[in-house]
Amino acid sequence: QLSNPQMEESSALRRAECRAKGGSPGFKVAILGAAGGIGQPLAMLMKMNPLVSVLHLYDVVNSPGVTADLSHMDTGAVVRGFLGQPQLESALTGMDLVIIPAGVPRKPGMTRDDLFNINAGIVKTLCEGVAKCCPNAIVNLISNPVNSTVPIAAEVFKKAGTYDPKRLLGVTTLDVVRANTFVAEVLGLDPREVNVPVVGGHAGVTILPLLSQVKPPCSFTPEETEYLTNRIQNGGTEVVEAKAGAGSATLSMAYAAVKFADACLRGLRGDAGIVECAFVASQVTELPFFATKVRLGRCGAEEVFQLGPLNEYERVGLEKAKKELAGSIQKGVAFINK
Ligand code: NAD
Ligand code: LMR
Repeated sequence: QLSNPQMEESSALRRAECRAKGGSPGFKVAILGAAGGIGQPLAMLMKMNPLVSVLHLYDVVNSPGVTADLSHMDTGAVVRGFLGQPQLESALTGMDLVIIPAGVPRKPGMTRDDLFNINAGIVKTLCEGVAKCCPNAIVNLISNPVNSTVPIAAEVFKKAGTYDPKRLLGVTTLDVVRANTFVAEVLGLDPREVNVPVVGGHAGVTILPLLSQVKPPCSFTPEETEYLTNRIQNGGTEVVEAKAGAGSATLSMAYAAVKFADACLRGLRGDAGIVECAFVASQVTELPFFATKVRLGRCGAEEVFQLGPLNEYERVGLEKAKKELAGSIQKGVAFINK
């Protein structure tokens, strides 16, 4: 447990002063990979978020241009750009939330695990920077394969002596966003009224939508269940194929990342009842990491919820998900401890 009481106190004081003045608590947010397909729309949406006072945009290419462009928006957040490894520490120092969409995306025919060789090293380097410069920040990890990059980040933080499992969150919000959309289509509802818990991980069969727990309560035929589960599990591939070599989901992902980051910031602010799905350190199954609903608070994922009652279809899916997840988690851990 490595919180820095002095830092926490000064940051809490700053927010308290701000609230007393009736202003926004003004969180400092860094995006690593900010010039990319996800990074740019994500940066724009975070520049529009009233909870953000300072927005640091880091990339190994093109971050000055993205920063200049966004800095003309007449919203409250101050934007600063950082280019290349020598500026990583300045980009991270003092941050409350670090969002990481850095790394290569899939092309048709690839699995997310095919990205491991390149993205594992990128995530390792960036997380070493987080451990050094903002060890108390909440980390939202987007880079694929999430099922392995989150364990990599955890091992980096453990080695640095800064690991707090509550502050490391793999972003699986896009699976929930897709599930809400596809279920709403089948039910003929507005997607904003639908909430589908999606558990497990973020790749293929590890993406497990719990259709028996959809809100508002509803039921599906076996054919609908099969169709929806397959479509949600393969939503990423659907986009990769439609983009035909030009990358993977970027716009829906930026939307999902902002939805999740905003929930984290509201949790940090102390709002009650903020619940989202995320891939986190977990004791819900025998695996060390698992995606479930978590309650977000001042310390990050303060509560990890149990799976709740599953039907037979979901129990079979859970076993398949756990088998694949175990290998992906182990691969990430071994990458750091090899
Ligand atoms: P992209 O290639 O368009 O952008 C990636 C950015 O990362 C580029 O600007 C690149 O310069 C930057 N980058 C590369 N190495 C870096 C480093 N060492 N430090 C900082 N920045 C670095 O890719 P994208 O479409 O934005 O996707 C990024 C990642 O997000 C991919 O791994 C993709 O698979 C993943 N992704 C995850 C989800 C999810 O649900 N978690 C959804 C979509 C995409
Ligand atoms: C997604 O779900 O869209 C992302 O994980 C990107 C991908 O490779 O599918």
